[in-house]
Amino acid sequence: MSMSGYRELFDASITDPSAFWADAAKCVTWTREPQQILDDSNPPFYRWFPDGELNTCANALDRHISERGDQAALIYDSPVTATKRTFTYRELLDQTARFAGVLAGLGVTKGDRVVIYMPMVPEAVIAMLACARLGAVHSVVFGGFAGHELATRIDDARPKVVVSASCGIETSRIVEYKPMLDTALRLAEHTTPRCVILQREQHPCDLVEGRDVDWVQAMADAQPVDPVPVAATDPLYVLYTSGTTGKPKGIVRDNGGHAVALLWTMRHIYDMAPGEVFWAASDVGWVVGHSYIVYAPLLYGATTVIYEGKPVGTPDAGAFWRVAAEHKVKALFTAPTAIRAIKKEDPDAALLADYDLSDLKYLFQAGERLDPATYEWAAEKLGIPIIDHWWQTETGWAIAADPMGVEALPVKPGSATVPMPGYDVRILTADGSECEAGEEGSVCIKLPLPPGTLPTLWGEDDRYVSSYLRAFDGYYLTGDGGYIDEDGYLFIVGRTDDVINVAGHRMSTGSIEAVLAGHPAVAECAVIGVADELKGQIPRGLVVLKSGASADGLTTELIDAVRNDIGAVASFKKVDIVGALPKTRSGKILRKTMRGIADGKDEPVPSTIEDPSVLEDLKKVLKG
Ligand code: COA
Ligand code: AMP
Repeated sequence: MSMSGYRELFDASITDPSAFWADAAKCVTWTREPQQILDDSNPPFYRWFPDGELNTCANALDRHISERGDQAALIYDSPVTATKRTFTYRELLDQTARFAGVLAGLGVTKGDRVVIYMPMVPEAVIAMLACARLGAVHSVVFGGFAGHELATRIDDARPKVVVSASCGIETSRIVEYKPMLDTALRLAEHTTPRCVILQREQHPCDLVEGRDVDWVQAMADAQPVDPVPVAATDPLYVLYTSGTTGKPKGIVRDNGGHAVALLWTMRHIYDMAPGEVFWAASDVGWVVGHSYIVYAPLLYGATTVIYEGKPVGTPDAGAFWRVAAEHKVKALFTAPTAIRAIKKEDPDAALLADYDLSDLKYLFQAGERLDPATYEWAAEKLGIPIIDHWWQTETGWAIAADPMGVEALPVKPGSATVPMPGYDVRILTADGSECEAGEEGSVCIKLPLPPGTLPTLWGEDDRYVSSYLRAFDGYYLTGDGGYIDEDGYLFIVGRTDDVINVAGHRMSTGSIEAVLAGHPAVAECAVIGVADELKGQIPRGLVVLKSGASADGLTTELIDAVRNDIGAVASFKKVDIVGALPKTRSGKILRKTMRGIADGKDEPVPSTIEDPSVLEDLKKVLKG
């Protein structure tokens, strides 16, 4: 395609999506070339490349061997275990093909699910790619989730195998994975026949005979297997994300659209060339990790970094600069929280002086809004483009960004810049009409969504429609509020639902409420996300006791319950016992009003309130 500027590219993608994505699809190695690009015969369900066939793992590994067999594919850098290890494309392929053999030996075939519950170790990447090789569907569960959350996901995905590890390491604290896995398998109704466990020397665990196999032993006996071609529309993975209720949503990703879209982004958004080093300092348990630690860099023939450490404390606030310098990273991708953590510890960025960052050309930011203060700090200290881009687990890649490989548009701090090709972003009012420039509303995307985005929810077509497509006919509801200014720049203001964003991690207040409500002393409860300087938002609980129930030790019990059921990552540290919760006359809890008060805003008292005195009483607690 001979178009240069962003505007031409974007317009082409909206005017003739099939032509646009047919062109992009040439970067994929298909086992059967798609003849049809978009199947729009069954709206609101759309399918990309319906008659195409490919294998994602073969695209990520095998096809690079002739040209890049000895190039680094994956660099594992783990300050918490003092380990660094590089896998060439050839080595990563060898390990992956053999681990696919292990899974096949345990009965995994095309379409079967495999749950992966692992820390940030190369084996997590190998396990994901091995599933893709077999046409099996992986479902990675973030290591910071505890047994109950894992059980919910196991019950929904119904895996044949769970791949896990004996432990993770959080700075210097050992996190035992095995007891959480055992709890989850006990809680789950689904029986998982087999588990593969990576024993880590920092804390090995006992294996359950007949159920668990040791990773190393299994690999020693395994035979490599070849990639299995799958339909472009077959699922590559399911990734659970928080919805407004306690039940997570299983976001489905297909194979073909995913490969096409991610390859497009590497060049056009991230301005990468094959052979260069890309580092997404996220976790394989999140969508950023799926797309930009694992799939996109490898599909593209780049080098990716898997970092088992934190931005601070492993050992200091220079950790990111050390990794970027040492591995010659060209583009670094982090959540703004990580930059705020570095800024807090090293406000003058003095540690930058210790490293040669001449290879680092870009810092990409996502996962939460990049606040202007953090933007200014990073831009000044690093002296490179800092690019905020907005996306969701559902979309798998950026909805809005500043496309560095196309045209660097001027930055407006606080804005994620402009919609990416394929995303016809519209801001709608409650009655479905379009907002004026600058007017805040519900951020929606006109259907069809581009390749790589969710085709549905795992086993829940109806929920897919009711959650995302029912609010406005013909549009996908992002759940974010925001506006587009007169220059076409998109500003995301925040979620319009009960999803909160804690340190770049998406959490559901509904699932925390479900844990609190499960305590025998609790009559009613509400959880709201309140502003936090470091983590963006943190959850805060308010509970009303059952009559006669004792408040003794209750807050500690509730905090422990959330940590044990959902996980430490919820960062649930504050809960207050109150006399009553403010409600509308129809009984709806006024969460938004409470959130505003807790954030110090001059929040108007809604006219629908049942008893204004309840709110008055709460003000002191919320402001405390
Ligand atoms: N396994 C087990 N526990 C985990 C975990 C994991 N993979 N990830 C986090 N946790 C635990 C932490 O140890 C912490 O436990 P604690 O309450 O005992 O201290 C808790 O969950 C909260 O974790 P986190 O929110 O990461 O806070 P932190 O205080 O440990 O670190 C930051 C603060 C800012 C350094 C950290 O939040 C960070 O690096 N954020 C960037 C997030 C990111 O990259 N998100 C990806 C989205 S793109
Ligand atoms: P997740 O699905 O975990 O990636 O979370 C997606 C949500 O995080 C979005 O719906 C937004 O609310 C928020 N988010 C992600 N990136 C950004 C960004 N660049 N600006 C503002 N909000 C963001």
